[in-house]
Amino acid sequence: MLGVCYYPEHWPETIWADDAREMAELGLKYVRIGEFAWSRLESSPGVFQFDWLDRAIETLAGAGLKVIMCTPTATPPKWLIDLYPDILPVDIKTGTVRGFGSRRHCDFSSENYHRESMRISEVLAKRYGQHPAICGWQTDNEIACHDTAHSGSHNAKMAFQRWCEARYGDVDTLNSAWGNVFWSMEYQTFGQIELPILAVTETSPAHQLAYRRFSSDMVVKFHDEMVDIIRAHAPNQFVTHNFIPMHDTQTDNFALSKKLDFVSYDNYPLGRTDLFFADAPTAQFKKYMRTGHPDFSSYAFDQSRGISKRGFWVMEQQPGPVNWARHNPRPEAGMVRLWSWQAFAHGAEAVCYFRWRQVPFAQEQMHAGIKRTDNSRAAAHKEVAQVRDELKLLAPFTDHFSGDLATLPLQAKVAIVMTTENQWVTEIERQGDSFNQHQVEFSWYSALRQLGLAVDFVSPEHDLTPYQLVIAPCMPIVSQDFVDRCKATSATLVFGPRSGAKTAELSAVPNLGPGLLQQLIDVKVLSTETIRPDCYAELQLDGDQTSYQSSRWREELAPGANVLILARDEFKQPAVVQQGNVVYVGTLSCEEFLIALFRQLAESVGLPMWQLGSDLRTMQRGQLQFVFNYGATMQQFTAPENAEFVIGSSNLQPYDVAVLRLS
Ligand code: GAL
Repeated sequence: MLGVCYYPEHWPETIWADDAREMAELGLKYVRIGEFAWSRLESSPGVFQFDWLDRAIETLAGAGLKVIMCTPTATPPKWLIDLYPDILPVDIKTGTVRGFGSRRHCDFSSENYHRESMRISEVLAKRYGQHPAICGWQTDNEIACHDTAHSGSHNAKMAFQRWCEARYGDVDTLNSAWGNVFWSMEYQTFGQIELPILAVTETSPAHQLAYRRFSSDMVVKFHDEMVDIIRAHAPNQFVTHNFIPMHDTQTDNFALSKKLDFVSYDNYPLGRTDLFFADAPTAQFKKYMRTGHPDFSSYAFDQSRGISKRGFWVMEQQPGPVNWARHNPRPEAGMVRLWSWQAFAHGAEAVCYFRWRQVPFAQEQMHAGIKRTDNSRAAAHKEVAQVRDELKLLAPFTDHFSGDLATLPLQAKVAIVMTTENQWVTEIERQGDSFNQHQVEFSWYSALRQLGLAVDFVSPEHDLTPYQLVIAPCMPIVSQDFVDRCKATSATLVFGPRSGAKTAELSAVPNLGPGLLQQLIDVKVLSTETIRPDCYAELQLDGDQTSYQSSRWREELAPGANVLILARDEFKQPAVVQQGNVVYVGTLSCEEFLIALFRQLAESVGLPMWQLGSDLRTMQRGQLQFVFNYGATMQQFTAPENAEFVIGSSNLQPYDVAVLRLS
């Protein structure tokens, strides 16, 4: 199913009907509206104007479209800010108030913001919760985007003090958990506790971790209450939220999505590639400048599916150049189609494009739409039409009632364990400039994908027994509960550097790293060094003559007598060790090493892999196998026996897609 984001309030009412008709002709079924419309819905306190929204919904429904209604809480209007200035958040880097005039100018610790947000959500839910044209709801918009999970306000400080009291009970427990004897940081009462911001130099890591946990809890509390309100009045409509990339929410994403029917994701492959690979060498970056990295979108799709625990939606799909990255190139012709199909292959139930028409005014006037500002068709239009037509070819594989592809991606045999908490640990305790949790996790994922392996993302609370390979690229804090779950699986378990090294309060574990994981593998981390990527040491995998690179994060390992050494560095020091089904990797490495290591491990557990040409990726969903060519040259894909092409052929043109039916 396809859809689009639309802003009736941006356009004269006289063109709504034509827009709706054209949307339906383009095969769009869903229209998301309302997420920034608070000032048009309530022009002053309690003075509501719903007539225009009623007519917009009626017009869209008249063309056969289904509407996704949003709560408008990402943009509190000016009158509300003037009434309650404490809604504005305080920048934690400067201590200054972040002003009105854009969006997300809100502080989750402001009781006024919280109350007013729930009030407007309830007004909308009551009015539209039973409306036949509304199929579902989106809460807020990209919650915590623009670094808004954290605020340095007075309200935040008061709420943090209450949160600390509830967590630690008495101040001595807090002092000891945070190590406050160090640098005379001890508190005598909870009322003295500061936010860990604007200090002369670094604040205590445990204090910072507590503040991030607190801030995440505030976001989740706000969001949970909004979902409850919508559900109370809209029992038959779905509730979702449009996530930004998971590492950007600064919130526990599993907790954030707990009450949703499913997760939605906003997919901007070029904008995100520009930011994520900002420091990559030119040759590496330029290749993917107009396509996005082949694994970047699917990384987010697989995480969204993992958090959803079912199919997900793409609520916003980039249709052309965006306006917010450092540079904003045009996509290669074919990429809007490819990204759409890649989302479906990885478990999307719907793909909605952002936005219907490029807007000629305000902040996003340089951001492409499906249509241009003069209402002519932009490049994406043709590609969306192609996806519409190709979806019809898959009709035999779709659910009769919903029109969705009938099955989810195959249960992956490889899982990556992810947690936001461990991301925070590595951000707080950097130790070296080139350990970036997000890049570490992504590179491990990408290596697996280059071998054609399907990957699930799971939380540490997830059952690990369905998997053959379980990988934790970055998990400094592990619980005994997780270790017990590891003991219960026969999967090969692979732990990255730093694993198990920290307690829940971000102190060193008493028995050296990998701490509790020593119950699984007899190894100790004696010391750690971080070094520049260009000052790497040579790394050799057992039985493989290739010379790889070990850099950025390197650990001195002391393995026990029964532990195998899988890889050593040029000083003959163990770098990767294995005992039974448990592997500990004590270094960051180049991508080629990861691919070689994972190939060896996958082979040892009998996991089938694909020989993929460069820039080809594949994914299976039900009986359908999807193949994507991210490259600028034609690539061949040899179809498995008894498979037939439903879309495309074994010769994939640049930026092309093929879909096979497996028998
Ligand atoms: C998203 C956001 C949209 C729009 C879009 C532009 O992050 O949800 O409202 O700003 O980016 O790319």
